[in-house]
Amino acid sequence: MLEFNHLLKNYQEGKTLPQDFYTDSNIFSEEMKRIYFKQWLMVDHISRIPNPGDYFVFDAEKESIIVIRGRDNEVRAFYNVCTHRGSRICLDEEGSKKLLVCPYHAWSFSAEGELKAARFMPEDFKKEEWGLRECHLKIYEGLVFINLSLDEPMNFDEFIEPLKEMMEFHQTSKSKIAIRKKYPTHANFKLVLENFQECYHCPTAHPELCAVQDKDWVVAMGAGIGTAPQKETDEYLNKIKPWVEECKKNGTPSEVYLETEEGLQKGLNRYVDRTPIGNGNLSQTKDGKPASSLMGQFKEFIFKPISLLESEVELIWLVNEEAEENKDFKPEEVSYIWDVTTAHDTTIIENNQEGLLSQSFKPGVLSENESAVTYFYNWYFTNMQLP
Ligand code: FES
Ligand SMILES: [Fe+2]
Repeated sequence: MLEFNHLLKNYQEGKTLPQDFYTDSNIFSEEMKRIYFKQWLMVDHISRIPNPGDYFVFDAEKESIIVIRGRDNEVRAFYNVCTHRGSRICLDEEGSKKLLVCPYHAWSFSAEGELKAARFMPEDFKKEEWGLRECHLKIYEGLVFINLSLDEPMNFDEFIEPLKEMMEFHQTSKSKIAIRKKYPTHANFKLVLENFQECYHCPTAHPELCAVQDKDWVVAMGAGIGTAPQKETDEYLNKIKPWVEECKKNGTPSEVYLETEEGLQKGLNRYVDRTPIGNGNLSQTKDGKPASSLMGQFKEFIFKPISLLESEVELIWLVNEEAEENKDFKPEEVSYIWDVTTAHDTTIIENNQEGLLSQSFKPGVLSENESAVTYFYNWYFTNMQLP
């Protein structure tokens, strides 16, 4: 039983969570253990490390992971922790190295994680027993996933299965990174995720996104299916029927995957959809025109909790691997809509955190356009094993 079970007494369905969930550091460390370190986390695109020895470091909360391509071309993930006395090994965010040399006493590790050199060690010291500690890693459609669980993680194939059709359609394995941007956010990670569960804030906060999307989409689909009142949802689905028919004829996906009851019980909350942009626009760009050739542009969000009141969102925009910068696409055009949108989100999330810290704060009532926030809380309670 968790010592903070009693906090749930102050939670009422249909309202936001009580203040302690955002301010208590014990809850935060429990969340890291029970949620963040158990999920498969999408951390980057494989095109970031094309050659043997290329690596990048993924930091989240107190963990730091080196993702590196070995001389055998296999990509592996290791804890950025020296097996000698525990120092960080890679201090740069990315690079390319034949050997990973610890900056403390120069123990050296190969790109496959084996200990190669350690000076003055006792005679019975066996180098082969002191390689870097591996972290679970999977690559799917060019996307790199890690899992920080020290035990056997949840089965990756089972996790990805329902999302496959949509992901394969977009062919992210045949893409490359056009541009990446980081959005450090002074707020608890749950506020960041809550913000992504609703588009109730879109008409106020995101004029650029609302200008390119159909306004009925903003209400009914802005945060995914089922997040608007039934009437608005039905009207929208009715409106896009011709598009769905068209997709069926062309054999392109038009479906929505909403987490099943069974998935929820396992602590999963997967969602994928594909809907038309509307207003005759072909792409989520400033002028609605395609920003690149072929696949157009595709974005990936990475969410990182840093500490109780610090998070980071990172966005990677992908374009077809054949597209040439400045000829077929301009990075700033590709990123425009979701860059301004995410920057605005950062501001509103930080405003939210500041107000939430006030002694006067009381959980507020959620609108009918924010039902996925309650859905998110239920997922959260399941993972936290709260009754
Ligand atoms: S801690 Fe890395 S070599 Fe000593
Ligand atoms: Fe937003």
